[in-house]
Amino acid sequence: MNKTILCVGAGIFQYYAIKKAKESGLRVFAIDKDEHAPGIALCDNFMPVSTKDIDAAIKAAKSLNKIHKINGVMTCGTDVSYTVAHIAKALNLPGIPPETALKATNKGIMREALKKGRVTVPEFSIINNLKDAISAAKKLKYPLVIKPVDNMGARGVRKLSCDKDLIVAWDEAFKYSTCKNIIIEKFVDGHEISLETIVENGKVHLVTIADRIIASSPYFIERGHTIPSIRPVNELKAAFQMAIKGIKALNITRGPVKFDMKLSSHGPIIGEMTARSSGGFHSQLTEPLATGMSSIKAVIDLALGFPLDISDITPKFLHAAAERSIYPKPGVVTSIKGVEKARAMKNIAGIFLNVREGDTLFPLKSNIGKAGHVVGFGNTRKEAIKTTLNAVKAIHIKTAEK
Ligand SMILES: Nc1ncnc2c1ncn2[C@@H]1O[C@H](COP(=O)(O)OP(=O)(O)O)[C@@H](O)[C@H]1O
Ligand SMILES: [Mg+2]
Repeated sequence: MNKTILCVGAGIFQYYAIKKAKESGLRVFAIDKDEHAPGIALCDNFMPVSTKDIDAAIKAAKSLNKIHKINGVMTCGTDVSYTVAHIAKALNLPGIPPETALKATNKGIMREALKKGRVTVPEFSIINNLKDAISAAKKLKYPLVIKPVDNMGARGVRKLSCDKDLIVAWDEAFKYSTCKNIIIEKFVDGHEISLETIVENGKVHLVTIADRIIASSPYFIERGHTIPSIRPVNELKAAFQMAIKGIKALNITRGPVKFDMKLSSHGPIIGEMTARSSGGFHSQLTEPLATGMSSIKAVIDLALGFPLDISDITPKFLHAAAERSIYPKPGVVTSIKGVEKARAMKNIAGIFLNVREGDTLFPLKSNIGKAGHVVGFGNTRKEAIKTTLNAVKAIHIKTAEK
């Protein structure tokens, strides 16, 4: 065990990165505000610090660095690349500058940077009060989308069709913004994909493209994703070219970059881009299950300053995998049945439940608060989806009105 990596976050998505790092023979340190985070048990050292508190995170990294010299810092599946970049700068580790990470985190700064780099973005306006929002909406014209510039998981994001919607949505969006800046932008219609890349010395490598199922308008709730995408090759190639443009516009030269993209009738449009690997069990499970690749291993190598091992992101096979969420009726959970049966089903790779009997499930307005997720795989897309949905069906979560 010669090298040490610090993982920012030890939650379920970072658990897979921590596990991969341990399997690679690394010493692993982590920080997370949750002292019961699942990744902690695998770590060699841990400090209970919020991944969003940059000063505290740097301080923790410096004290862990005294215990054992840290050679790299990373995250996986959560929007803390700004913290990662600050730690990398403070400890002189490989990575991207904090200013670049901020462009890939704050949706307002991102939209400005993309526009400056001549990347087509939906017309947008950044505002901090409802009065200005109403004037901006008048100029932009409905349908629009409102979102806080600095959150994730579709918190506070909503489609708007009229001023009345905007007035109702404003407080929710505002509540979810720490810096109190809100974007309203033109609604873009089209199929949504999640596109994952790895960048080394400015060269962009495509990892995977997943189809996303988004439902529950006016909210944008992800019901699941599937690899590979069902869209025609020419559309996917155009999406990758758009990703390269976005990466150049933000000047990201190293590490993972993950996109939410809309395949609109005018071509691909970047919804958002983040300088970290995907969450939602995409880089963690569906990617390795469908392709045999491990982009997480590539991210670890790059964080440590090693060259990219291209075999990590070269498909070993072209199968399929799907993730679907579980969303029972809102209410108090009175019984949960069928989980073990579902878990034992053929080609089911994971069942993740977020609820227990007695918990309350609220109507979903974002990706937070789902009852659980199922991940399955198969030789074909159809097979993977069928297997996953069968397992979802086998799980019975009963709820009663509160
Ligand atoms: N301009 C838009 N047009 C259509 N849908 C959008 C737009 N902006 C966001 N969405 C939808 O809202 C979801 C969440 O928005 P996003 O910008 O990705 O924020 P988050 O960081 O919370 O994921 C997207 O996955 C997409 O389905
Ligand atoms: Mg998103």
